[in-house]
Amino acid sequence: MDTKILRNISYGVYLVSSNNEGVDAGCVINTLTQVTSEGPLVSISLNKENYTNEIIRKARKFVVAIINEKINPNIISTFGFTTSKETDKFKDYKYDVIDNIKVITEGVCGYLVCEVENIFDAKTHDIIIARVVDTKKYNDEKEMTYRYYHEVIKGKAPKKAPTYEEVEETKSKGKYKYVCDLCGYVIETDEELPDDFVCPLCGADRSHFTKV
Ligand SMILES: Cc1cc2nc3c(=O)[nH]c(=O)nc-3n(C[C@H](O)[C@H](O)[C@H](O)COP(=O)(O)O)c2cc1C
Repeated sequence: MDTKILRNISYGVYLVSSNNEGVDAGCVINTLTQVTSEGPLVSISLNKENYTNEIIRKARKFVVAIINEKINPNIISTFGFTTSKETDKFKDYKYDVIDNIKVITEGVCGYLVCEVENIFDAKTHDIIIARVVDTKKYNDEKEMTYRYYHEVIKGKAPKKAPTYEEVEETKSKGKYKYVCDLCGYVIETDEELPDDFVCPLCGADRSHFTKV
């Protein structure tokens, strides 16, 4: 079966976050869908190994912020390529607290506050159906599409994203070796990395590369 056609499915890019008994978690998702207008109900698909899933299952509540095109790409790298189990993902960015749940307020159009109604098993992922109980709109910036994330930010989906596709490893050998401290991507080159270099895996900027 040729799975290339799956790349033509369109999505947005979102930050989902939650809090259970004082523990924060949040990650990037592309799988938010409005399911019904009555409710209204939405669904998200979360990998069972993502810490955010564990926290949402316990808290039964989460907030989804709709990322806009002006977002600092480092926010996507932090929330999409590291785990809340080991990192305080919010510490370097502006956020608000809604019902104890931290929600990033920079680079987003607004947010939906959601209460979990059902959770369905989908092999590697859980499909979470939730009722939207409150909303806030911050601005009229353009919401980011998944295509924009790939084509403009030059980011990829990590292993735990439902849309993951294997990224070709750099086979090149070079005088210098750099590693991205966010996603672990390694690049070897004969030149110093230029200031405008962007990580081909997670979209992090040059400041996240360390020479090893
Ligand atoms: C563009 C993009 C889309 C993603 N979409 C999803 C998704 O829909 N569901 C999911 O479970 N993970 C998705 N991920 C992966 C999670 O954000 C990632 O595994 C994160 O590190 C999990 O963090 P946590 O352990 O703090 O929950 C996506 C990542 C990126 C960069």
